[in-house]
Amino acid sequence: MPNWLNDAVFYEIYPQSFCDTNGDGIGDIEGIISKLDYVKSLGCNAIWLNPIYDSPFMDAGYDVRNYKKVAERYGTNDDLVRLFDEAHKKGIKILLDLVPGHTSDQHEWFLEAKKAAKSEYSNRYIFTKSVWDAPPQYRMMCGLCERDGNYMVNYFSSQPALNYGFHEITHPEWQLPCDHPDCLATAEAMKDVMRFWLNMGCDGFRVDMAQSLVKGDTDSKATIALWQDFRAFLNKEFPEAAMISEWGQPDKSLMGGFHMDFLLHFGPSHYNDLFRVEEPFFSRKGTGDASEFVKTYEENYAKTEGKGLICIPSGNHDMPRISQRLDKKEIKLAFSFILTMPGAPFIYYGDEIGMRHLEGAKSVEGGFERTASRSPMQWNSSVNAGFSAADPENLYIPIDSDVNRPTVEKAVNDSDSIYNEVRKLIELRQAHSALKSNGKIEFLYAEKNAYPLVYRRYDDNESIIVAINPSSNAASCRISGLNIKEILYTNGDAADITDGVLTVPAESVSVFSV
Ligand code: NOJ
Repeated sequence: MPNWLNDAVFYEIYPQSFCDTNGDGIGDIEGIISKLDYVKSLGCNAIWLNPIYDSPFMDAGYDVRNYKKVAERYGTNDDLVRLFDEAHKKGIKILLDLVPGHTSDQHEWFLEAKKAAKSEYSNRYIFTKSVWDAPPQYRMMCGLCERDGNYMVNYFSSQPALNYGFHEITHPEWQLPCDHPDCLATAEAMKDVMRFWLNMGCDGFRVDMAQSLVKGDTDSKATIALWQDFRAFLNKEFPEAAMISEWGQPDKSLMGGFHMDFLLHFGPSHYNDLFRVEEPFFSRKGTGDASEFVKTYEENYAKTEGKGLICIPSGNHDMPRISQRLDKKEIKLAFSFILTMPGAPFIYYGDEIGMRHLEGAKSVEGGFERTASRSPMQWNSSVNAGFSAADPENLYIPIDSDVNRPTVEKAVNDSDSIYNEVRKLIELRQAHSALKSNGKIEFLYAEKNAYPLVYRRYDDNESIIVAINPSSNAASCRISGLNIKEILYTNGDAADITDGVLTVPAESVSVFSV
């Protein structure tokens, strides 16, 4: 694993909505370069950039038309290289978003594959033998091509699935095995894309729908094997490149050679229980439950310890903002958890200032309800919150219209802001090896429907307890054999241990060495 991941704290940038420098109403690479100092001031030292490739934008850029060209609206390939260089000068790494599972239906590979004439791209996507062949278990687009056959899509109808083969073959007349030369050629084409950007200076990839590549692969065995092959390629040519998967099952993804896997708002992780259900654990109501999350985390941790990292994001461009269910104080406590857990933390742009979830925002570029968490970053009190000089009517997504909307300017100058708490927490994390990505964890108290949540982070040098109680009542638990050595951080009143009972005051977190 690249060493830098031990210290990494990521910031996710949705380029459309971060900073517009040419007044066209949509963010651009120059805008990101202009805000690198801000990212750094927060304490983040790595960025995950959502897709910036040429695309018809039916799915915000996850429908790639040309993997090797930056979309004009964001700038040029040279601008992106400048972003890599400027970021590196400031000690910031950049991960691009790799979309290996599908392309846009406008990609030149697909335009060739659709034709009746055979070419090297005829098997680049998954086509049935004839248009009359549309097995209902697959999502097929029917009758749209010159070629006689239907094609499988991965997500939206405009995103045909690339062909890495089938593990279990049920329709031999059109399903290819994974070791078919044309399926191997798809993998080689994707390595070529990775090589292209890694040679330009990018530091690795966040990989979209990493679990989706091989079809008919119920237990993911063949997909894991395919990722091991990608890993071998990277080990050989780019050993420092970091790979993080959108998979949501670290026990599988890390076996495939990913360094890190995100927990997601879907899948088995119970991540939602913490921040995004009706009654989240981090609500002051005290009616939430973190125990299922902890149970699944512990199982995954046991299976993956030493093999890679489980990453906990504050949010991302696909899920409701953390502020949908949590208020300012609750978000601070949520960050105290996210930033003291193992694995590299991910902060979704704007969560650090408590940007709102804009319920009902009009869908843009296939965002649908996700548009609510993709609105422009709020920098200051000038027009369009400092995001863009465009006419407000021409913004990619309208700015939060609340007159009291949070901004970076206000947050930086307010000692009580989420931003300043996040900064403190990142400083705390960076000052203690046990709190970094590779530090170990042991949960000490995480009972069903109960508070507090208590865990120990440790390594050979130190042992640190994190005790969090978001609920509005003090909460206690028995903890044997521990004495507080030094309080390292608190938000709210400090916790106390008396006669083996740890008491965590209402709406507080304490971090202390033992
Ligand atoms: C997951 C991405 O995060 C999401 O935004 C996208 O729509 C789908 N994958 C399809 O690529």
